[in-house]
Amino acid sequence: MVGLERVTTRLVEPADEERLAHMWPRLSPRTVYRRFHGPVRSFPATSVHRLVAADHQEYDAIVAVVDDEIVGVVRYECDRDDPSRAEFALVVQDDWQGVGLGGRLMDEVLTLARSRGVTTLIGALLAENRPMLRLLQRHVPGAPLRLHDGVYEVAVPLGSDPPRR
Ligand SMILES: CC(C)(COP(=O)(O)OP(=O)(O)OC[C@H]1O[C@@H](n2cnc3c(N)ncnc32)[C@H](O)[C@@H]1OP(=O)(O)O)[C@@H](O)C(=O)NCCC(=O)NCCS
Repeated sequence: MVGLERVTTRLVEPADEERLAHMWPRLSPRTVYRRFHGPVRSFPATSVHRLVAADHQEYDAIVAVVDDEIVGVVRYECDRDDPSRAEFALVVQDDWQGVGLGGRLMDEVLTLARSRGVTTLIGALLAENRPMLRLLQRHVPGAPLRLHDGVYEVAVPLGSDPPRR
């Protein structure tokens, strides 16, 4: 039985490259499609290599760990020209979906990005991605969504108040 109490979260570290590689085969094609907006067939080694070398300021990630395996990850990356704006992306492996982990990672990235001076957190999700739409409705209610070519862009304003739980 999966339960959130088994999950710890922490910032990504260089040794996570192998753990992220191990997570890859545990993602279903649908989960991969929704995360990358297309069918990515092989482990995205270059971007993961970059992710684990995060500078913990303009680029960072939080990993969710169970029994020394990564089961979810959320990252943000600041805009080079305007570091007060950052893009985020979130994924939870299939057998850990639906127990609140995505929501927890979302809350944590909001807090982390705000502490780094980000004032707008931007995400992109396929219009058919109902689980992510519901998650946004629960965790960042009222955040504006803009639909373009089958993809929603959400822009979450990060005020000085803590995010809604
Ligand atoms: C979108 C995604 C991150 C959601 O992750 P998740 O861990 O399933 O999200 P949560 O568990 O927080 O919420 C999902 C459901 O669990 C339910 N839930 C939340 N907390 C719960 C708890 N403590 N106990 C039981 N159920 C809970 C929620 O009510 C929600 O149900 P609903 O969708 O029917 O309303 C995940 O589906 C995913 O990785 N998808 C592929 C990648 C993707 O789409 N990324 C977004 C674009 S970047």
